[in-house]
Amino acid sequence: MPELSFVLPRVIAHRGASAAAPENTLAAFRRAREEGATWIECDVKLTADGRPVIFHDDTLDRTTDGSGPMVDAPLDVVGALDAGGWFSPDFRGEPVPTLEETLDLLADLGMGANLEIKPCPGRERETAAVTAAAVQPYLDRVPVLLSSFADESLAAAREAAPDVPRGLLVEAVPADWQARAAALECVALHVDAVPLTAEQVAAMRAAGYKVVVWTVNGESEARRLVEWGVDAVITDAPQRIGAAIG
Ligand code: G3P
Ligand code: MG
Repeated sequence: MPELSFVLPRVIAHRGASAAAPENTLAAFRRAREEGATWIECDVKLTADGRPVIFHDDTLDRTTDGSGPMVDAPLDVVGALDAGGWFSPDFRGEPVPTLEETLDLLADLGMGANLEIKPCPGRERETAAVTAAAVQPYLDRVPVLLSSFADESLAAAREAAPDVPRGLLVEAVPADWQARAAALECVALHVDAVPLTAEQVAAMRAAGYKVVVWTVNGESEARRLVEWGVDAVITDAPQRIGAAIG
């Protein structure tokens, strides 16, 4: 089991403080810091011309004033979109950040990142390799934990940057979780909190894995998960959930 060179925080802001600011924007990452979070989770995918940007969906429609698939949009198009106005007029004009802009901000704020590799279909290896290369110059200032639902992306990340720790993202914990996590040399399981059981948390911890759960926005749910022994909760509301779990 690879050793982590940093301490994982108890609270990680999901797509930034996404209850209070538009998800996956620099505004949401600044807001997370203001709410007391020391780490964010965000989603990395590639533009048509292969540039890593912070974006969740495969299409531009929900969170920008653009439309169509991200895979068809080059960076000069993506970078000109408004990724804040859909959330509130207060954030109109907030751009889709590049991965480098995000890492620069996190370095300035003294924050860490769980970078979820979220490839558009067919770009699993490429998205991971680009992400792994982009983080290299920042690793002395920004602690990074990579994660993905895609085993192919985690394998490519391991090849490109074996020393950057990895977490296997899953919804319901699959029967073969331990074999998959071991094969990919992961340090953590990132698990949907809803179907998770105390027994599963205990088993993952007993096997030496960190347990990160998402997306936890209820105070009592967060307290219960911490009692079960999870290491970190990913939440849209870091101040409220941080206060609930101390
Ligand atoms: O990384 C945890 C969580 O973000 C995974 O789901 O859809 O919010 O990216 P999603
Ligand atoms: Mg995510």
